[in-house]
Amino acid sequence: MNYNELYTQSLSNSETFWKEQAHALEWFSRPTTIVSKNSNNYPVWFEDGELNICYLAIDKHIQDGFGDEIALIYDSPVTQTIKRYTFSEVKSEVAKLAGGLVSLGLTKGDTAVIYMPMIPQAAFAMLACARIGVTHSVVFGGFAPHELAIRIDDCKPKVILTASSGIEIERLIAYKPLVDEAIELANHKPQNVVILNRKLGAKIPFKKYDIDYDALVYGSEEVSCVPVASTHPLYILYTSGTTGKPKGIVRDTGGYATALKFSMQHIYGAQPGEVFWAASDVGWVVGHSYIVYGPLLNRNTTIVFEGKPIKTPDASTFWRIIAEHQVRVMFTAPTAIRAIKKEDPNGDFIKQYDLSCLKTQFLAGERCDVATLEWYNEHIPVPAIDHWWQTESGWPMIANMMGVEYLPVKPGSAGKAVTGYDIRIFGENGKELGPNEEGYVVIKLPLPPGTLMDLWNDSERFKAGYLTKFDGYYFSGDGGYKDDEGYIYITGRVDDVINVAGHRLSTAEMEEIVASHQAVAECAVVGANDDLKGQIPLAFVVTKAGIEMEHFLLEQEIVKLVREQIGAVASLRNVVIVQRLPKTRSGKILRKLIRSIADQTEFQIPSTIDDEAIIEEISNSLALYGYFKK
Ligand code: COA
Ligand code: AMP
Repeated sequence: MNYNELYTQSLSNSETFWKEQAHALEWFSRPTTIVSKNSNNYPVWFEDGELNICYLAIDKHIQDGFGDEIALIYDSPVTQTIKRYTFSEVKSEVAKLAGGLVSLGLTKGDTAVIYMPMIPQAAFAMLACARIGVTHSVVFGGFAPHELAIRIDDCKPKVILTASSGIEIERLIAYKPLVDEAIELANHKPQNVVILNRKLGAKIPFKKYDIDYDALVYGSEEVSCVPVASTHPLYILYTSGTTGKPKGIVRDTGGYATALKFSMQHIYGAQPGEVFWAASDVGWVVGHSYIVYGPLLNRNTTIVFEGKPIKTPDASTFWRIIAEHQVRVMFTAPTAIRAIKKEDPNGDFIKQYDLSCLKTQFLAGERCDVATLEWYNEHIPVPAIDHWWQTESGWPMIANMMGVEYLPVKPGSAGKAVTGYDIRIFGENGKELGPNEEGYVVIKLPLPPGTLMDLWNDSERFKAGYLTKFDGYYFSGDGGYKDDEGYIYITGRVDDVINVAGHRLSTAEMEEIVASHQAVAECAVVGANDDLKGQIPLAFVVTKAGIEMEHFLLEQEIVKLVREQIGAVASLRNVVIVQRLPKTRSGKILRKLIRSIADQTEFQIPSTIDDEAIIEEISNSLALYGYFKK
């Protein structure tokens, strides 16, 4: 079947289509109800089915005779380690860790937070939770204690699983003090912290709640997989929204397993037994779907990579890993390719490796700019495929479905709608726009299996944020347009979310922090264009009357505040002092206008602006503080 036929079938006969995909999995109890509504009147998939995703990812392959095949390769240039784990070895560690968690009193329905660097134990911890029906919430290791505390208070974990340290470029980051500080800050107090001592020299302050990871694993019996309902929350993954409070995306189990298995073959074109590498982090959705669950469900070897595309030790790392582990399909963010391109513009490192094993390169997490795509195509002879999705969707929504049909690539477009996603472009009034007209990217309900079910503890925010803007449609928060051949171009977020080096961050959250500085009267944080990271946050502040403070000092203090509260990953480095912020006559800050001024792109002066002279003022301030030469 070609793409058009499959896509049409997925929408016209969606229940039959997804039932067939679900039946490709082994269920403890096969679903007979395919799509139904939950108590929020929101569509859910395979309600009466029962399964266990850890069983499907590990145990099943052992039962099928593949126990000695490699499930996971840990490649860590920062510790100079390469370690391979078979499916049987993964099962043994995961089942014992699960047994250990049971011995701590965890049971189906509990929650656990995982705050770990990119090490195999992060994946083992996720699988161990899934094995016993514990809902996990992985928090990206780059987030500061304050962020971790917000998540602890929201999902109330019984335990936190962590490691002694992570490693950034030439820097050891001790995790345990961060976890202790987060627990101190949080109102909810977890019962235990399970800590893996990596023995890399990081300080591990001892607390009464500590449990040693190794002792727990080796002192515990293996436990088997607990059947859970298809709608059982496998995980909560927090992502940035338009307020200071992150949103806890709730993922089901059965729909997700069905969608991931389908996507591995139909989108990524990965065959069981092949090596699949997503160079991301388990703290992001890519890590959940395509480092841990997707490849393992499809019996691919997955790679847990602890390093960066550059400087660990250099821009050859990606190519070394592809060649050494015979990677067949790879996934990374365009920013990683831009970083490599900057260090190795002529691709000299690439020439040193035999990359003939590689079949396809997938790119996502942010828009793939044409220059990056062209550079990739010039140096590596495999298709580079941009595709679009979000934490909310859990798997791609727009792509070139390489396992179905390789359609011609149109640079700048993420491809066509993936099977199951009825994607439309709407104007502000909710009317569908025609070809090449830019508007809101929306998706007709029901969304296919595997997408978000709800927001943890906040169904009202779920409805308000995604479902009420356009009745009967999911509002993605992105803008874009569709050409007359159905190719979709994503033009960027239409809200206060920005994308910094493939990391999704909220400018509203940064504004709250910047505004908390005692010298700041009001502020606006916008995402300005950046050659490497795609976007970087830029803070505009109006200081309080009577406060005289040197710019460099204020900048230093604000940057420090944001690093302390969100984490270094926020990458806020520039603060611009302005006399006032441009506003509409009704007092709304014109952030889009500020962004255009900073980016020096053409813009129309909004008719609602209260005073046009302010544009010149902002421009002068940017020049004054060296942000750009006027
Ligand atoms: N733990 C602690 N700190 C972290 C961290 C982590 N897991 N991840 C990032 N940080 C810190 C970095 O050390 C850096 O700190 P610094 O300001 O003190 O130098 C800061 O956060 C910013 O990190 P980053 O945005 O990663 O910038 P970088 O300059 O270190 O690296 C890239 C730039 C492009 C190489 C890097 O961002 C990258 O590899 N991006 C790909 C991202 C990706 O895969 N995203 C997933 C979506 S698919
Ligand atoms: P996250 O939830 O962190 O995966 O971020 C999702 C957001 O990243 C989307 O809403 C988009 O704004 C952006 N994004 C992800 N992939 C792409 C892509 N291929 N093209 C354009 N934007 C993308």
